[in-house]
Amino acid sequence: MKTLKDYAGIVNRRLEEIPAVVEENRCVIGEMPWLLSQSMRYSVSAGGKRLRPSMLLAAVEMLGGDVNAALDFACAVEMIHTYSLIHDDLPGMDNDTLRRGRPTNHVVFGEGQAILAGDGLLNCAFETMLAAACARPERAADSLLAIREIATGAGVTGMIAGQVMDLYCEHNRVSTPEALDYIQYGKTACMFIYPLRAAARLCGADEADLAALTEYGRAFGLLFQATDDLLDVVGTQDDMGKTLGKDAESGKLTCVSAYGIDGTRALVERLHRQALDALGRFPGRAGFFADLVDSMVNRTK
Ligand code: IPE
Ligand code: IPE
Ligand code: MG
Ligand code: MG
Ligand code: MG
Repeated sequence: MKTLKDYAGIVNRRLEEIPAVVEENRCVIGEMPWLLSQSMRYSVSAGGKRLRPSMLLAAVEMLGGDVNAALDFACAVEMIHTYSLIHDDLPGMDNDTLRRGRPTNHVVFGEGQAILAGDGLLNCAFETMLAAACARPERAADSLLAIREIATGAGVTGMIAGQVMDLYCEHNRVSTPEALDYIQYGKTACMFIYPLRAAARLCGADEADLAALTEYGRAFGLLFQATDDLLDVVGTQDDMGKTLGKDAESGKLTCVSAYGIDGTRALVERLHRQALDALGRFPGRAGFFADLVDSMVNRTK
């Protein structure tokens, strides 16, 4: 069985190949400006756990699909995730200066270029997936369904919706449980649910497999954000690679602000159980996913 490290290595090697870098100061119509590729690369290659693309590949492997053919979809998910982090850190959003152990993109390249680096990664994600779809015309329908899942998860009823509500609730001091659920589901769980659904689509999986992966992604994603909220209070900057203590300082609506530390730990336990239950659909095949969610419960990074 492959580990997270194995999958992350596969993703990292492929990410190195896209996108192309042209020389500094060389302006050629139809090529990417040096500044753009540098700023995109700066954030993509800064590290990161590669959880979402690794989970997509592991799901394809679990369902008996072609991991090689899924690789560009996985890389696209990481590009979208990285864009969301660049934008999340902007002064107009969470206003953070440290990410993945490095100064944030806008600190290095300026706000305007950071916005464009994020835009570039988002667009590049779709260019990459569409190119992969075109390269396998015999599986075009499955590829299209997968692209649609990823677009939905990252989109205006998914990750972007969660981010909008996250900012709205912070600025307007909204703190209802419904708002918190909406935020955590949108901004974080969707970027686990929909890449897993994309994996299922690439494999032509049935509705029951799709439902089980959706449920696992939901519980995993909510658990992941709950532990992110906890680590903002009890984690270390060295492990997390970002400035901590910001949520309370800015008045964010988080699991910790709503339920306290003990209440959040209890929620994590419940979500852990729910994620494991969802794996009942895949007896003997879901070791990667069981181990992964186990490792998240007490994570420090
Ligand atoms: C950070 O995600 C954003 C959240 C949803 C909490 P990760 O913790 O997966 O970030 P990287 O990719 O490892 O840097
Ligand atoms: C970020 O949530 C979610 C997305 C980027 C979509 P947070 O704002 O809690 O993530 P961190 O703590 O900055 O990594
Ligand atoms: Mg945020
Ligand atoms: Mg943030
Ligand atoms: Mg956070």
